[in-house]
Amino acid sequence: MRALVAGIIVAGLTTSFAHASGSCDETTLYKYMDDVKTNMKSLSFEVKQGNMEQAGVRVDNIIAALEKSKSETPFLFTEKGLEGDELAKRQGDYQEVMDDTIAVFKALDQALENGDKDKLNGLMNEINDQRKRGHRAFKADC
Ligand code: HEM
Repeated sequence: MRALVAGIIVAGLTTSFAHASGSCDETTLYKYMDDVKTNMKSLSFEVKQGNMEQAGVRVDNIIAALEKSKSETPFLFTEKGLEGDELAKRQGDYQEVMDDTIAVFKALDQALENGDKDKLNGLMNEINDQRKRGHRAFKADC
């Protein structure tokens, strides 16, 4: 019985330590990213269906989530204990990649408005590249 109680206490402590140190699936940025992912799925669906207006709504949602993401700090920076000038520099790099990504979504919005279907595939590929670029540089191994 005593061993069982001790076991439960240890399990409880381990959980609270894991929470105290945080992880990147608990961040606000993670929530925004999840929102981007959901909207991306709907975006591809709407484009395939030829619902350009609905696709445009999805793009607007994504841009709003990315704008909010810009003011967040990637968990990787916290994990690495970055501070001061180094943190500011890395945060600047992160915001630049986010801005470049937003610019591609704005171009996509324009292409949807103009009904310029030829441009859509290329822009979708560019978005995929931006995702890879952002994750390679700023996403912790999580
Ligand atoms: C445009 C398409 C994008 C999609 C669909 C996307 C999706 C996601 C998803 C689903 C996650 C959760 C973890 C996972 O499942 O891998 C995530 C995490 C993350 N993403 Fe993105 N992402 C995109 C672009 C970007 C860009 C451009 C950046 C950086 C400039 C970025 C930075 C991050 C970071 C740092 C995390 C980890 C969360 C944290 O550190 O708190 N993502 N993303």
